[in-house]
Amino acid sequence: MNSFTFYSPTKVIFGKDAELNAAKEIKEFGGTKVIIVYGGGSVVRSGLLERITKQLDDEGIPYTTLGGVKPNPRLSLAREGVKQAIENGVDFVLAVGGGSVIDTAKAIAHGTANPEIDIWSFWTREAVLEKSLPVGVVLTLSAAGSETSNSAVITNDETHNKRGLATDFNRPRFALMNPELTYSLPKYQIMCGIVDIMMHTMDRYFTSDLGNELTDEIAESLLRVMIKNGPVALENPRDYHAMSEIMWCGSLSHNGLTGLGGKQDFATHALGHELSGKFDVAHGASLSTMWGSWARYCFPQNPERFAQFGRKVWGITEGSIEEIGRAAIDRTVEFFASVGAPTSFTELGIGVQPEEVIQEMSDRCVFYGKRTVGTFKALNRDDVYQIYTMANK
Ligand code: NZQ
Ligand code: ZN
Repeated sequence: MNSFTFYSPTKVIFGKDAELNAAKEIKEFGGTKVIIVYGGGSVVRSGLLERITKQLDDEGIPYTTLGGVKPNPRLSLAREGVKQAIENGVDFVLAVGGGSVIDTAKAIAHGTANPEIDIWSFWTREAVLEKSLPVGVVLTLSAAGSETSNSAVITNDETHNKRGLATDFNRPRFALMNPELTYSLPKYQIMCGIVDIMMHTMDRYFTSDLGNELTDEIAESLLRVMIKNGPVALENPRDYHAMSEIMWCGSLSHNGLTGLGGKQDFATHALGHELSGKFDVAHGASLSTMWGSWARYCFPQNPERFAQFGRKVWGITEGSIEEIGRAAIDRTVEFFASVGAPTSFTELGIGVQPEEVIQEMSDRCVFYGKRTVGTFKALNRDDVYQIYTMANK
């Protein structure tokens, strides 16, 4: 068994009415002046925002609000949030929404605690984050796993660079998770969430560093639970059981548990981020677009790993290692298609791209030759180019 560090300090309160603990938890974690961050309006329309502000009013906790976070959250709004938080003397950031809102909240927390540093320099690694403010989450979308993750992904709207920052300062203090809050999701977002949750697991499962049996079993069972409950949720978004299972899978898929002891791969995420940065497509959709091409390209690296995935996740028993492994890729791509997830550029809605765009995305994905992508197979620029070309249909 490989050694590992497991650090997942977020307090999770899960179930009906979980959001009613917001004021109590903010106080418990030392918040005395709050900035509440939210998105384009779903939490206003559902009345959730009002349920949160009422608690703060009742408890006498002052707050300011910042709405307007867009999917693929923009650096410019996070910078505005930092300014607003500093002006208001904020010491706690509350995110009410999905991954984009949570990641913006994390960026605001970092910027407010470090007023002399422009936040983007944490994402470009020019500055090292050494302190931040506490962040709490009221989750409305099961997908990104940001409510327990150590990651925050921001898009620089001047350069169209979408970058992730991994640090334990990104771990929220608490996450309030009521599956009923996800009933109002459009089916497209449920689909994107299903893909993203599966991909957080698969981008860890396909690793070059094998040997942690329990980690594999947890990842495989999480994937089976998603494959079972995803279609149920799409059929009936008010199915409490299915929405609960998906919500909990979302958090466990990205708090580190499903990859302990292995080197994370995250190549599909890196490939997808270029698509979202350039075309502003939904994160989950960018992942289903890229995974099949990644898997087929990387299959020779370790056919047995794909065969294990086929046996344990898809229940495929007949055939050679090669046959089971390849069938597992086909089954996964078919599953994505069955839940309405795109598996090519055309299905993603961006059409077949000219050669120069594929070249440009390949350059950007490997940071112009400064890095390789992934660990299952360390992809160089040519590998990335081949994979984009396979998906470009
Ligand atoms: O803005 P509003 O009006 O709230 O609408 C949102 C948004 O349009 C809507 N929505 C959210 N909850 C809803 C709802 N609509 C109705 N009812 C509800 N209950 O859903 C839309 C998408 O929201 P968004 O937050 O963008 O989605 P998601 O949670 O999938 O987050 C995606 C972002 O997270 C990043 C992605 O790259 C992307 O930028 N990720 C963050 C990660 C992390 N921090 O650990 C890891 C992930 O791999 C991912 O990269
Ligand atoms: Zn993701």
